Amino acid sequence: MNGVTGRMGYRQHLVRSLLAIREEGGLNLPDGTVLFPEPVLVGRNAAKLEALAAQHGLTNFTTDLDAALADPANEIYFDAQVTQARVAGLTKAIAAGKHVYTEKPVAETLDEALGLARAADAAGVRHGVVADKLYLPGLRKLKRLVDSGFFGRILSVRIDFGYWVFEGDWQAAQRPSWNYRAEDGGGMVLDMFPHWRYVLDHVIAPVKSVYAHSVTHIPQRFDEQGEPYAATADDAAYAVLELEGGIVAQITSSWATRVDRTELVAFHVDGTHGSAVAGLRGCRIQHRNATPKPVWNPDLPTSHDFRALWTDVPENDVYDNGFKVQWAEFLTAVATGAPYAHDLWAGARGVQLAELGAQSAREGRRLEVPAL
Ligand SMILES: NC(=O)c1ccc[n+]([C@@H]2O[C@H](COP(=O)([O-])OP(=O)(O)OC[C@H]3O[C@@H](n4cnc5c(N)ncnc54)[C@H](O)[C@@H]3O)[C@@H](O)[C@H]2O)c1
Repeated sequence: MNGVTGRMGYRQHLVRSLLAIREEGGLNLPDGTVLFPEPVLVGRNAAKLEALAAQHGLTNFTTDLDAALADPANEIYFDAQVTQARVAGLTKAIAAGKHVYTEKPVAETLDEALGLARAADAAGVRHGVVADKLYLPGLRKLKRLVDSGFFGRILSVRIDFGYWVFEGDWQAAQRPSWNYRAEDGGGMVLDMFPHWRYVLDHVIAPVKSVYAHSVTHIPQRFDEQGEPYAATADDAAYAVLELEGGIVAQITSSWATRVDRTELVAFHVDGTHGSAVAGLRGCRIQHRNATPKPVWNPDLPTSHDFRALWTDVPENDVYDNGFKVQWAEFLTAVATGAPYAHDLWAGARGVQLAELGAQSAREGRRLEVPAL
């Protein structure tokens, strides 16, 4: 596990996923055997790794990635490093014949992402890319609505994502500073468009075209040491996408907005027979039979409490941590040889949308998203 001292690597992948699977006694495989993961913590700082390992009762850690990859006992390479370090790590691991599982984006360019997918296929290893948003309770409820035919014909989707990330001067920023420097692999489009790609492709319909307008609203920020730096990466993107079937998706992604929603992300879907608004956990619906009939009249106060007319979708399921559920799926695929859908090709589709989104923003025009 490379990058376990980072936010995602530590919290979601090590603690909430692999350590949680170990605490449950391992993963039950379809043939009745139990898979018990033995993480090897890999990073650049031995002292940090040692402290982390000790804190969680682990003994395997190293700063020597090559040595870890040369050890046949290590079967899977996982990467949650900063985005820019990813291609090199994955390339080495694939060359060493390891199965690979990785955070998104898999690369900074489509060429590199395709190179990884081809190399992994040629090496005959299993490969997987994190698609965590699909496992959010809110999106699973939304997918259930789509599958049930609730919407009739889906017309449009509006994704509203983001919150205020502090500049770092009078209050510390709550995200790492590299995210705001283009030269270090930062930027909203590269960060979030890979997520939007698999969410739309899987939950609504395949993405066909993109128009994006990206900006850097806050040009100067302050880093982890309190030093000012030029924020060279985009910190917001406003996009219009066309999906198969003429569905229109509008996506606002911003680190410079203040939240007036019930959750940090909202997916609003309108269909001929009903609408839904899903968040991280919740999902509310309004059926055509329960749709109010407002009449525009600014001379009178609004007569409807519009929000009150929506209904909560019940849980009906137990939702475990999404990162852990996906780890369990990937480990099972590796152990059984079953196909794995969220692979490096899916990862490449995410990078493709980010690359086309960035190009669209530079050139000010809408671009088709060709099949890979
Ligand atoms: N799936 C998600 O929802 C999600 C959310 C946030 C971040 N991410 C992705 O996870 C990856 C890590 O993001 P994070 O927020 O955990 O970042 P982070 O800065 O907290 O962690 C980065 C990790 O990479 C390591 N690293 C390796 N080479 C480095 C270098 N040259 N400079 C700095 N650090 C280096 C660090 O030591 C650390 O362990 C990114 O690729 C990001 O896109 C995914």
